Amino acid sequence: MIARLGLAQLPTPLEPMKRLTAYLGGPRLWVKREDCTGFVFGGNKLRKLDYVLKEALDSGADTLVSGGVVQSNSQRQVAAVAAKLGLACHLAVYHGRLAPPSAEYELSGNALLNRLYGAVLHDVPWDGDRNGAIHALAERLRAEGRKPYVVPYGVSNALGAAGYASIADEIAASGLRPTAIVHCSGSGGTQAGLVIGAQRTLPDTRIVGIDIDAEPERVRADVLTYAKGAAELLGQLFDAERVEVVAGHAGPAYGVPHEATVEAIRLAAQLEALLLDPVYSGKGLAGLIALIRAGRWSVDDDIVFLHTGGAPALFAYRHLFAPE
Ligand SMILES: Cc1ncc(COP(=O)(O)O)c(C=O)c1O
Repeated sequence: MIARLGLAQLPTPLEPMKRLTAYLGGPRLWVKREDCTGFVFGGNKLRKLDYVLKEALDSGADTLVSGGVVQSNSQRQVAAVAAKLGLACHLAVYHGRLAPPSAEYELSGNALLNRLYGAVLHDVPWDGDRNGAIHALAERLRAEGRKPYVVPYGVSNALGAAGYASIADEIAASGLRPTAIVHCSGSGGTQAGLVIGAQRTLPDTRIVGIDIDAEPERVRADVLTYAKGAAELLGQLFDAERVEVVAGHAGPAYGVPHEATVEAIRLAAQLEALLLDPVYSGKGLAGLIALIRAGRWSVDDDIVFLHTGGAPALFAYRHLFAPE
């Protein structure tokens, strides 16, 4: 087992989604509330950070360095944790991965919260290398005499995945034996952790990652890398056959929601009072709904939807739900 700091509120709730189940006509749907990991808006990254940052503190770091797009939930969770731990936080903010979809995109939602948490923001152009600018920033800070600790893009690495494996143990401890756990997959660490964790405590449960980056091959390759690394850290074998990344539900591009995403967000809000987001969890649920409608499961199956968080980004996409 990997030690954690105890920052995240674990275990997160596992709740039935009775109204969404009835609306779709089955299978039995559940939601694992990773949006309730704490620090107000929660999110899947806090579970990873809880394990990764133990290493940061043990190394004597005084500064967390990370990065992501303007509305990155990952950066917001890093900034929140840095504030709580009394560490400085420097973030490489990538511009150009997507065209800003609204005026609010640049300054509201997660972009506002990063500022409020006191993070120092460094604007950099997106060049497709997720971690390059983060490492360059860390080097600069080191040259200035700081002790930076690099939190990778999406908090995705072998250690984060090894920590994230704990989620499968939580679901198993509830007594539920789901046919599948379905979630959106981006930088890959969440799915890698789920696959490794399910292998040890939910061996009959399929982990289904919905590609939301419109890069299913890249996502699959990253999941395999992190899962292999996590398995090594945990001293267990890794079965690559267990990695399933489903393409076709990302909409036109990363960060650009399509009609199915908007429908999923509305259904979650109006049937289950859950707040999903247009970039990640909304596309994840859209993918799950599409698989259900295609007849992948029967009414006797239990399917867990992993709510990975992201609600602050809703405010950056106000135009979708409250147009002028
Ligand atoms: C709300 C939300 N859900 C899901 C993900 C994807 O998780 P991962 O990057 O571990 O695949 C992210 C990460 O960027 C996220 O912010």
